[in-house]
Amino acid sequence: MTEYDLLIDLHKNSARQGPGSDKDTLKALSFINIEKNKNLKIADIGCGSGGPTITLAKNLNGKITAVDLIPDFLLELEEKSKKLGLERKIKTLKSSMDNLPFNNQEFDIIWSEGAIYNIGFENGIKKWKDYLKIGGIIAVSEITWITNSRPKEIEDFWTHAYPEIDTASNKIKILENNAYSLIGYFYLTPNSWIENYYKPIENKLDAFRKKYADSKLAKKIIEENIAEIELYHKYKNYYSYGFYIARKNN
Ligand SMILES: C[S@@+](CC[C@H](N)C(=O)[O-])C[C@H]1O[C@@H](n2cnc3c(N)ncnc32)[C@H](O)[C@@H]1O
Repeated sequence: MTEYDLLIDLHKNSARQGPGSDKDTLKALSFINIEKNKNLKIADIGCGSGGPTITLAKNLNGKITAVDLIPDFLLELEEKSKKLGLERKIKTLKSSMDNLPFNNQEFDIIWSEGAIYNIGFENGIKKWKDYLKIGGIIAVSEITWITNSRPKEIEDFWTHAYPEIDTASNKIKILENNAYSLIGYFYLTPNSWIENYYKPIENKLDAFRKKYADSKLAKKIIEENIAEIELYHKYKNYYSYGFYIARKNN
């Protein structure tokens, strides 16, 4: 089994594949002035098994194209949406977020929770802008420093893992430099990391360890997850996921 397959196995059958909550999705949505009864076109990019997608579908009129690279996650989302009677609102699409088969100015809203880092924040907001109507909204969550300085251990860890990690003011500048106007920002509380993301992973680790007892790669994945969780508990006052909601100006 490759590392990729092991990671999918660890993360499938979870409500979410990253920090976040229905409450956060709704809070981000509350910044958007949505015309009642407007039939919206929405893309949820890097949707995973669709935690955020389902919340959007329950709270918006229109159609959501839910994109991810991993078929197992998309299948889970399809099953969930059928159970909830939302299948007419959600269409899944297996595609890479850096090469999407979308048309110019196709969408009213582009949503992406905890996923844009895969192609980099600046690259992502530039690429996806083409698919947004003028006046359309982008809502993305992205790992963000929430203080201006921080201990070296956590600075080194995250800068190595994701060199684009930065403060909200610098991320907002990037949005402005690319002709977006910020309409809302907040960052996720520890509950969205611990209860909704890290605890479900911790609950799976024993079974995962037993299932892949002979795999060095699985051992590495377990160790990396434990280290990341420990660092979060130690340094959670210095970083979080920032949620950026912005309008495309032109
Ligand atoms: C941290 S998870 C977030 C999932 C979901 N948005 C959520 O909040 O639960 C990131 C997602 O991005 C997807 N992903 C990674 N690289 C991708 C790519 N190049 N194109 C599309 N999806 C990608 C992963 O499969 C994963 O489902």
